[in-house]
Amino acid sequence: MTPESSGAPSATQRVAIPRRYLMCPPDHFAVAYAINPWMHPDQPVDASLAARQWETLRDAYLNLGHQVEAIKPIEGLPDMVFAANGATVVGGKVLGASFRNKERVPEGPAYMEWFRKNGFAEIHDPQFINEGEGDFLYAGDWILAGHGFRSDPNAHLEAQEFFGMPVIGLRLVDPRYYHLDTALTVLDHETIAYYPEAFSPGSRAVLNTLYPNAVIATAEDAAAFGLNAVSDGLHVLLPQAATGMAAQLAERGYEPIGMDLSELLKAGGSVKCCTLELRG
Ligand code: ARG
Repeated sequence: MTPESSGAPSATQRVAIPRRYLMCPPDHFAVAYAINPWMHPDQPVDASLAARQWETLRDAYLNLGHQVEAIKPIEGLPDMVFAANGATVVGGKVLGASFRNKERVPEGPAYMEWFRKNGFAEIHDPQFINEGEGDFLYAGDWILAGHGFRSDPNAHLEAQEFFGMPVIGLRLVDPRYYHLDTALTVLDHETIAYYPEAFSPGSRAVLNTLYPNAVIATAEDAAAFGLNAVSDGLHVLLPQAATGMAAQLAERGYEPIGMDLSELLKAGGSVKCCTLELRG
């Protein structure tokens, strides 16, 4: 008998909500430059393994009943596989991305063009630097937003005006966790998981006020990119090496699904970085 059927108290019943994601095949993926501490252009990347790992992630979404759209990768843009950075989409409204590093600047217009051609009517051309869902994480009642390495805090105000939603700025302080989605993941509208050491003391205090029951990641799980995860409310896809995080999620009633994206990690990206949610 399950705890539910016995009437005994149990963890909250988790529900998976079908999602629509945008992904970019890693046809031109490489580590050709270094714009974060994970990238070592002198070390080899196995391109065919990267492709297989990416396909396994896409197939996992499809098997869970999610919809996956694909954007055509562009030669010369090796980081375009990290679709999370391409825009922020909430309620069908698209805030375009504007990248800090010159190597990635052309990705911004490339993603905006995909949105224009795919029926998204309300697209905002960004005025300030923002790296999409790398730094903007929709959390239901508000958007959590990172700054310190990539996105400009002015972009937080720009997003707040455009979406008409509170945007809560959080300062990142550890260069290994250069995007918010490397240090924090939204599990559902009530819960997040994060690595406190990646944030300034003031931002840690803010997170503690908003989420007193958050899942707190260990240094080991954070370093395995365990926070670069995607949740549908029940299933949480995360790097398989983040075993402590998976155990904590299972304890809370989520179903963790470990993924091996070792080749993409060589560019400082994993599950979440490869995935942009298209919220209708
Ligand atoms: N090499 C890329 C960069 O440094 C990785 C981006 C990872 N994406 C993410 N959403 N964190 O910009």
